Amino acid sequence: MRLFAAVSLLLASASAVLGQNATFLEGFLNHLNSTGHTRFGGIAARLNSSAAGPSVLNQLSSGGLYVLFAPNDTACDVPSDADELTDLVAYHIVSGNFSGVTTNYTNTTLGRTLLSDPKLVQLEAPGEHQVVAWATRADGQVHVLNQLNDSIVTNTTTYENVTIYTVDHVLTIPQTFAETVPVNNASLADTRTALSQVQVDYFNATTNQTTTESFFEVLNSGLHGFTLFAPNNSAIEGVAATLATLASNRTALSTLFQNHLINGSTVYSPLLSSANLTSAAGEPLSFVLNATGHYVTSGNVTAQIIQPDVLLPNGVIHVIDRVLVNTDSDVSAASSA
Ligand SMILES: *[C@@H]1O[C@H](CO)[C@@H](O)[C@H](O)[C@H]1NC(C)=O
Ligand SMILES: *[C@@H]1O[C@H](CO)[C@@H](O)[C@H](O)[C@H]1NC(C)=O
Ligand SMILES: *[C@@H]1O[C@H](CO)[C@@H](O)[C@H](O)[C@H]1NC(C)=O
Ligand SMILES: *[C@@H]1O[C@H](CO)[C@@H](O)[C@H](O)[C@H]1NC(C)=O
Ligand SMILES: *[C@@H]1O[C@H](CO)[C@@H](O)[C@H](O)[C@H]1NC(C)=O
Ligand SMILES: *[C@@H]1O[C@H](CO)[C@@H](O)[C@H](O)[C@H]1NC(C)=O
Ligand SMILES: *[C@@H]1O[C@H](CO)[C@@H](O)[C@H](O)[C@H]1NC(C)=O
Ligand SMILES: *[C@@H]1O[C@H](CO)[C@@H](O)[C@H](O)[C@H]1NC(C)=O
Ligand SMILES: *[C@@H]1O[C@H](CO)[C@@H](O)[C@H](O)[C@H]1NC(C)=O
Ligand SMILES: *[C@@H]1O[C@H](CO)[C@@H](O)[C@H](O)[C@H]1NC(C)=O
Ligand SMILES: *[C@@H]1O[C@H](CO)[C@@H](O)[C@H](O)[C@H]1NC(C)=O
Ligand SMILES: *[C@@H]1O[C@H](CO)[C@@H](O)[C@H](O)[C@H]1NC(C)=O
Repeated sequence: MRLFAAVSLLLASASAVLGQNATFLEGFLNHLNSTGHTRFGGIAARLNSSAAGPSVLNQLSSGGLYVLFAPNDTACDVPSDADELTDLVAYHIVSGNFSGVTTNYTNTTLGRTLLSDPKLVQLEAPGEHQVVAWATRADGQVHVLNQLNDSIVTNTTTYENVTIYTVDHVLTIPQTFAETVPVNNASLADTRTALSQVQVDYFNATTNQTTTESFFEVLNSGLHGFTLFAPNNSAIEGVAATLATLASNRTALSTLFQNHLINGSTVYSPLLSSANLTSAAGEPLSFVLNATGHYVTSGNVTAQIIQPDVLLPNGVIHVIDRVLVNTDSDVSAASSA
C-alpha cells in the first residue's frame, strides 16, 4: 500500500512537472512495477524533491535510447537523502543504444550514465558524465564490473526506448582511489604503498604552487582525468629488488611510475587498441588484444591487463600482472601529451 501511494504521488507531481512526459512515466512505472521493481519504481517518486531529480526523469522520458540498471526488490537499499538518491538513480541510467553489442570480457561495454554531479565526478572535461562498465564473464552472465557487491544482470525487459537490465545489487558510484584501494586491498595494496613512497613535483592549480606530494595523493585528489596501469601485488613483489635499487634515485623511481600513467585522458579498455598512447614520462605505450587477452607494453616489458576498468571519480585503473620497468623518459613527448 505504501509503495502504491508512492507511485501515485509521483504520477501526480510528475504531471505538474513534466506535462507531456507524464504518459510515458506512468507507463514506465507500471512496467517497472509489473516486472519486479516495485521498490525502485517507488524510489523515483522521491526524485521530485531534489534539485536535479526532475531533470533526470525528463531525460528518461525524452524518447532517447536508454539502459536502466534496475535493482530487484530484494536488492533495493538506497540512501534517504533526496540529492544522494538522485545521484544514485542517475548512475543507474545509461544513454545510448546497446542492443547487439558484444560484451565478452576483455571487450568491455562502457556507457555514459546521467551522473555528472561535480562532487562525485571529476573527469578531464568539466561536466563529463561518469561511466558504467559491463561484460559477460566466464560464467556466461553479464556482470557490472568492479562493483563493491558483484552485480549481475538477471533479466532484460524493454519499455519503449528504455532497456531495463534487472540487477541483483544496487550499483556503487565510483569512489576515490583511497577508498577503492584501501591499504589492505587484496590485489593492489603493494602498489598503493609503492605509489605512496614516490615523491613527485605537483603543480596545484588551486594555489598556483608546485609542491612535493606522493604520487598516490596526486592520483587520489590532484588529477582530473587519468589512466593508471596498476601492477598487482605479485608483480610488485616480483621486482622488489629492482625497486629497492631505484629507491635512492627519486627521478628514476618517479619516471618508472609515470610510465604507468596517462595524464589527462581517461582511457577505458575498449579504446586501448592498436593506437599507441603516450605515458606521463613521454614514452610510448602500445597495446595488443588477441585470443589470450589484452596486453600493454612499455620499453621492453609487456604486461597483461588482468582487471580492466576499475572506475574512479577522476580516472580509471587497469590492473596488470607485471611492473613496466622502464625508467626512460622523453620530456618533449611528455609535455605535448
Ligand atoms: C504495483 O504493484 C502492486 C503489487 O503487484 C499493485 O498492488 C499496485 O497496484 C501496482 N501499482 C501500480 C501503479 O501499477
Ligand atoms: C523476466 O521478467 C519478465 C517480466 O517480469 C518475467 O515474465 C520473466 O519470467 C523474467 N525472466 C527471468 C529469467 O527472470
Ligand atoms: C519530455 O520532456 C522533454 C523536456 O521538456 C522534451 O524535450 C521531450 O520531448 C518530452 N518527451 C516526450 C515523449 O514528450
Ligand atoms: C525511439 O527511438 C527511435 C530512434 O531514436 C525514435 O525514432 C523513436 O521516436 C523513439 N520512440 C519513442 C517512443 O520515443
Ligand atoms: C569490441 O566489440 C565491439 C562490438 O562487437 C567491436 O566494435 C570492437 O571493435 C571490439 N573492440 C576490440 C578492441 O576488439
Ligand atoms: C563472445 O560472445 C559471443 C556471443 O555470446 C560468442 O559467440 C563468442 O564466441 C564469444 N567470444 C569469445 C572470444 O569468447
Ligand atoms: C533478486 O535477485 C537475487 C539474485 O538473483 C534473487 O536471489 C532474489 O530472489 C531476487 N529478488 C526478487 C524479489 O526477485
Ligand atoms: C593562478 O594563476 C592564474 C593565471 O596566472 C590566475 O588567473 C589566478 O588568479 C591565480 N590563482 C591564485 C590562487 O593565485
Ligand atoms: C591543492 O590545493 C588545495 C587548496 O589548498 C588543496 O585543498 C588540495 O588538497 C591541493 N591538492 C593536492 C593534490 O595537494
Ligand atoms: C637517476 O635515474 C635517471 C633516470 O633513469 C638517470 O638519468 C640518472 O643518471 C640517475 N642518477 C643517478 C645518480 O644514478
Ligand atoms: C608503437 O610503439 C612501438 C614501440 O615503441 C613501435 O614499435 C610501434 O611502431 C608503434 N606503433 C605505432 C602505430 O605508432
Ligand atoms: C597475445 O599477445 C601477447 C603479447 O604480445 C603474447 O604474449 C601472446 O602469446 C599472444 N597470444 C596469442 C594467442 O597470440
